[in-house]
Amino acid sequence: MTDSLKNLKLVNKNAFQHDLIEWFSNEQRDLPWRKDKNPYKVWVSEIMLQQTRVDTVIPYFNRFIEQFPTINDLADAEEEKILKAWEGLGYYSRVRNLQSAVKEVKEKYGGKVPDTKEEISTLKGVGPYTAGAILSIAYGVPEPAVDGNVMRVISRILSIWEDIAKPSTRKTFETAIYELISHENPSYFNQALMELGALICTPTSPSCLLCPVREHCHAFHEGVENELPVKTKAKKQRQVQLAAVVIRESEKTVIHKRASSGLLANMWEFPTVEVTSPFMFDKSYVEALMMEELGIEVKLGQAVGKIEHVFSHLKWDIQVFDGVLKAPIKEDENLKMVSPEEIVEYPFPVPHQKIMKQFYNEE
Ligand code: ADE
Repeated sequence: MTDSLKNLKLVNKNAFQHDLIEWFSNEQRDLPWRKDKNPYKVWVSEIMLQQTRVDTVIPYFNRFIEQFPTINDLADAEEEKILKAWEGLGYYSRVRNLQSAVKEVKEKYGGKVPDTKEEISTLKGVGPYTAGAILSIAYGVPEPAVDGNVMRVISRILSIWEDIAKPSTRKTFETAIYELISHENPSYFNQALMELGALICTPTSPSCLLCPVREHCHAFHEGVENELPVKTKAKKQRQVQLAAVVIRESEKTVIHKRASSGLLANMWEFPTVEVTSPFMFDKSYVEALMMEELGIEVKLGQAVGKIEHVFSHLKWDIQVFDGVLKAPIKEDENLKMVSPEEIVEYPFPVPHQKIMKQFYNEE
């Protein structure tokens, strides 16, 4: 680690901060969460921006803040409403944790987001990155906010060859940033690193000729900017074979609520079972599983198509069938018959939205 940071003391810190912040002041994008320093809004934006691109986040952020303008509004909201507002963003535990944390802020901190590292870090879903981002952007505290983009930028500036896929590597970058961060303007310093990573210091073919801190960049001087950062490949996703059924009964269809823990907890879906490959297309086997696992007596019709969806660790291959009920279902809080007007009120994960679009709302 000490050797990784051998270039740290060679950086002209004041000039680096100045060049970076000056560039950000002039070139920053006009993004909705930059309109004010409200810690709640900064928090929502940083949670949304984890694993999701800025362009995707913008409309979600605007709608979310319109629907839940304050900490109290989010704390008091029904879970189904917040899942619906997050529908399509993925990683739904992010918004569940956000709501738990916001409830705690309401109850324990009188509705004010804590402004110390110690307190803010105890909130659910607030890891070192989110803590640093909120503290620096909303409160002007000189804390690092190290995510993958920032590691890419700093690995190039300082020519750091540690594997950024390893969780332990983040510490090296935090050490570097504690040393480099501006104490006059930590907010702009951190946001400038994020912005540089998004606009200039991109993963492939970084635009070094446009870079405001090229002069300070060891990778550029060594000509190794395209070799950094070092990042080992993630494992391939495990494939899961599923069968789903779209049931039509006098204008209504059956939907099922997933378990309250695990992948896509409490989201709704067309009735789905996991099949083991040898029986994949065997309708009577799928019908038996639907009965056993979901209590649905269904007669499967045609296989109407396939949907694929890649999660971070899994790949779903869904064979979609149509079907009719052999017996009425027993509706309860996890199993419902809904009309086309009603179905849009329920939060559906993306693969089931695809089913809805392709095999339910046949346009
Ligand atoms: N990525 C993560 N946080 C960001 C922010 N505040 N602005 C732009 N991109 C980001």
